[in-house]
Amino acid sequence: MKINGKTKVCAIIGDPVGHSLSPVMHNAAFKELGLNIVYVAFPVKTNMLEDAILGARSLGLLGLNVTMPHKHAVIQYLNETDATAKAMGVVNTILNERGKLFGYNTDGKGAMIALQENRVDPEEKKILLLGAGGAAKAIAFQAAQETDELGILNRTENKAKQLAELINKTFGTKVTGRTLSAEVLKEELETTDILVNATSVGMSPDVNASPVPADLLHSGLCVMDIVYNPLETKLLKDAKIVGAKVVSGLEMLLYQGAVAFEIWTNCPAPVDVMKKVALSKLAEQGGRH
Ligand code: ATR
Repeated sequence: MKINGKTKVCAIIGDPVGHSLSPVMHNAAFKELGLNIVYVAFPVKTNMLEDAILGARSLGLLGLNVTMPHKHAVIQYLNETDATAKAMGVVNTILNERGKLFGYNTDGKGAMIALQENRVDPEEKKILLLGAGGAAKAIAFQAAQETDELGILNRTENKAKQLAELINKTFGTKVTGRTLSAEVLKEELETTDILVNATSVGMSPDVNASPVPADLLHSGLCVMDIVYNPLETKLLKDAKIVGAKVVSGLEMLLYQGAVAFEIWTNCPAPVDVMKKVALSKLAEQGGRH
């Protein structure tokens, strides 16, 4: 690509950001559409967050992705935040429009689009979500708006209950939060259509761990994992064996990126190109571990 006096800049800020797949995905997408935009990664420590946001505004950066540990704290420095991102208190995407910073959360939308793109319609379905951290929160907020029934299970039960309460208060739904145990899983999975793992269980190097005992999975399920390293987690392997449909974590990563891309550029994201480069970057990173 040719960088010149008119090149715009997008960036990811967080700590750490070195392993992020977003730079390769977005740069490939900008190139594909012939857009004069470049995407870089800026490691930003917690005590430098305000300075980083002020700098992004004054340097006229087009957009930012925000990752751990700033997804919550960044909100106070923005001019406006999208209603859902505001209710959950988590922002992962910022658009700079002539010095005004707008915050969004594309993680939940990314997860729901990933399901739809894999021909799984969440409407009139029961989703069972495992986890109550940042990623689970974003998925839960979106899922509550798109599905009929949502259950949240978490190792620390209190966090599941708090998240369910926040969702019920925001949307007037009847989401339940329970403990993540084999007993509860057995009961819940009997009536579940879509199971989403939003815990970090199964992530490299713990590749033989799964949040769900294999014998509780059944062929009527669609199982989506947000863990993408490894691409095929133990949970997804077990799900495939029983004949369940599976959606990998790369899909959610891809579509949250696609939604951010569209916010910044107003152009449909070239998802095939983004997926291809993300897959090869993952393979390259996998080889180094
Ligand atoms: P993220 O932002 O990626 O969601 P997080 O906020 O640290 O990360 O959340 C991690 C999630 O994985 C939490 O739901 C956590 O459960 P707790 O709230 O009980 O900590 C879950 N998790 C991590 N390790 C786990 C394990 N070994 N078994 C079950 N759940 C686990």
